[in-house]
Amino acid sequence: MENAVPRDVLVVHGGAPLQGQIRVRGAKNLISKAMVAAVLGDSPSRLYDVPGIRDVEVVTGLLELHGVRVSKGATDGELIFDPANVEAANVDEINVHAGSSRIPILFCGPLLHRLGHAFIPDLGGCNIGGRPIDFHIQSLREFGAVVDKGEKGMEISAPNGLHGAKLQLPYPSVGATEQILLTAVRAEGVTELRNAAVEPEIIDLICVLQKMGAIIKVHTDRVIEIQGVSSLSGYSHRPIPDRIEAASWAAAALATHGDVFVRGARQADMMTFLNTYTSVGGAFEIDDTPGHGGIRFWHPGGELKAVALETDVHPGFMTDWQQPMVVALTQARGLSIVHETVYESRLGYTAALNQMGATIQTYRECLGGTPCRFGRRNFMHSAVIAGPSKLHAADLVIPDLRAGFSHLIAALAAEGTSRVYGINLIHRGYEDFEAKLAALGANAEMGS
Ligand code: EPZ
Repeated sequence: MENAVPRDVLVVHGGAPLQGQIRVRGAKNLISKAMVAAVLGDSPSRLYDVPGIRDVEVVTGLLELHGVRVSKGATDGELIFDPANVEAANVDEINVHAGSSRIPILFCGPLLHRLGHAFIPDLGGCNIGGRPIDFHIQSLREFGAVVDKGEKGMEISAPNGLHGAKLQLPYPSVGATEQILLTAVRAEGVTELRNAAVEPEIIDLICVLQKMGAIIKVHTDRVIEIQGVSSLSGYSHRPIPDRIEAASWAAAALATHGDVFVRGARQADMMTFLNTYTSVGGAFEIDDTPGHGGIRFWHPGGELKAVALETDVHPGFMTDWQQPMVVALTQARGLSIVHETVYESRLGYTAALNQMGATIQTYRECLGGTPCRFGRRNFMHSAVIAGPSKLHAADLVIPDLRAGFSHLIAALAAEGTSRVYGINLIHRGYEDFEAKLAALGANAEMGS
């Protein structure tokens, strides 16, 4: 059954420009972490502008298994988390969630503080490389946790409580930085974290924790200092907008010769993307009207230009922007170079684009930039894209969330009718995307 073709399929009649307006809501990669942070509070927390995506359902399920009451607030997208009765969850029930998300690992610190122990199922997530959790485990041990590998996952306990630690990450991992923040805020004493990730979603999580009563200083040079406190209260928070979704629609506008206003998108979080967008030949306009603002992205006509880009941690070009942008680069004249330095295996989706008429060659070498961790380790992590290519329709199977959206953009840009299988995977991170496609004039319908 492993290679069976998924039954959920979107039939896309491509070749028409996307035109119109859609809205992005709170960032998936902040919201799931803020939901976990609610476990640390002594009183209920409230999040606004939460999109209806499957990752939110998964974390809601995990919270409920641990005794947190999750309810809807008065406004659309408002969720309330009541952690009054946090309890240990049944191991088999947590395991039902294994494979669907990497969020369970972030429950470690909050559960250790609340209950003294935690169970973490074997983790899933996107199909983009090994995605190890060694930094997480090492950091938890430095805080005084005892980690044992069990048959179904990891048993973690803190027999002597958790204490502050001096930590240095080998690489500025987003997840490990969040793990350390969520653990250090209530550990005894001071934690100093060097080589921390400083993505906008991390800074927003720090804002959430500060609202709860945490004391966190963000110094220059990726150093974060956390002074542990004995208790935290609930928070009320409106998250930063989803800059990955915003960039995905921006790339779709470019690839389809379209014109899309992304309501809710914010310039400050997307500066690096906007620089690349301009270099490629795309146009954008910022509307910062309070409450109604956003960014209009469009193809201004003429030829797109090839670029060299390298993904990196913030403030670099996000790895999650890479796949949608590559689809637009298939339409640029000349040779574009992409060097993926965050994940070792995030170019596999280019095979599907080649099947549709693109000319993309992948390489093991570090092309067009500084040597990275993957250069000497035999990973296909660079790509050269020769364009412009006329894309034609194909049957595609979605491999992971971001690559999946790129497949969709390619199908929208291609002449003819494509069938995109496994489309439900897109619901993990993109709210209502079928309705958004319709709002942008795309000709697509669910098939069977
Ligand atoms: C987060 O993943 C995001 N996921 C990813 O988005 C995003 O691509 C990534 O950050 C980078 O921005 C969520 O926020 C839920 P990392 P995360 O730890 O935290 C290595 C999406 O589609 N590493 O920063 O798991 C790792 O292998 C997803 O929304 C270790 O070696 O990413 C990778 O090469 C996809 N050991 C690098 O660090 C560890 O213990 C960066 O990973 C942890 C990470």
